Amino acid sequence: MSEEAHISFGQLARRLRQRFEASGIDTAPLDARLLVAHAAGLGDAGLIVREHEAVSPDVIADAEGLADRRLDGEPVARIIGEKEFYGLVIGLNDDTLVPRPDTEVLVETGLGQIAGHDHPRVLDLGTGSGCVAIAIAMHHPNAEVVATDISAGALAMANANLALYGLEGRVGVVCGQWFAPLPAETRFDLIVSNPPYIESGAIPGLAPEVSRHDPLLALDGGADGLDAYREIIGAADRFLNPGGMLALEIGATQAGAVGALMKDKGFADILVAKDLAGLDRVVSARLP
Ligand SMILES: C[S@@+](CC[C@H](N)C(=O)[O-])C[C@H]1O[C@@H](n2cnc3c(N)ncnc32)[C@H](O)[C@@H]1O
Repeated sequence: MSEEAHISFGQLARRLRQRFEASGIDTAPLDARLLVAHAAGLGDAGLIVREHEAVSPDVIADAEGLADRRLDGEPVARIIGEKEFYGLVIGLNDDTLVPRPDTEVLVETGLGQIAGHDHPRVLDLGTGSGCVAIAIAMHHPNAEVVATDISAGALAMANANLALYGLEGRVGVVCGQWFAPLPAETRFDLIVSNPPYIESGAIPGLAPEVSRHDPLLALDGGADGLDAYREIIGAADRFLNPGGMLALEIGATQAGAVGALMKDKGFADILVAKDLAGLDRVVSARLP
């Protein structure tokens, strides 16, 4: 039997970690464990239990193949097809953005705004994988959520994620441009969105994990990055109940411009929430 046949799960994870560290991947230990676990069809706990067990040659070959993809710039979440968000596992496909920890600030803000409502109606614009809509529905048991996206492919994934959490009855999904698919008389207590907000010209310069693997529709905010904010803020008042809240994720330098758009439309109580890095991340406001 060759020496390779005796390599353990722990040794295989260390080997991948060393390859990742050598290429400067700063999440090398976590990435290595996730890919070995995925190749072996194990969860992280399963990997810990089998730390010293021998790995089959097939699993070694699969894990090394996944590592090659990671070294080529593909994010781990894309390779394994899921990402943890707000304590939930969210499935991904090629049409969905990989949910970012920063977006948990949007969920926190939104949940804070509906905390006092018994049966809040919530709209999530540009839902992608459905991560924000699902996190809000899971943490407010009476919230009724409508989630929209222009990408039918992303909505197929959102629907699968909703089914996984048994939320089909409380989260409805509709396809179209921002508010366009909604009946004119629909009103919400809270509108949340993490819209595309990268300036078009900046996209090619982003890390390959983003520029080559996240869908362009999820990134491109137009020449100044603000196209989606103009559209959403321009129409949000028609879909909010009096006193209703609007909460939008932003890029770290966009709070001033987005807050000004809200003020121009008559919104009050404009607040900026920061992410864990201390950067501006969400602007929220109230319709008087
Ligand atoms: C930054 S991603 C956010 C996805 C998800 N909500 C999240 O936080 O991970 C923006 C989403 O907006 C959608 N989108 C882009 N343009 C749109 C439009 N004009 N109308 C509706 N959705 C749009 C994209 O397909 C994408 O899913």
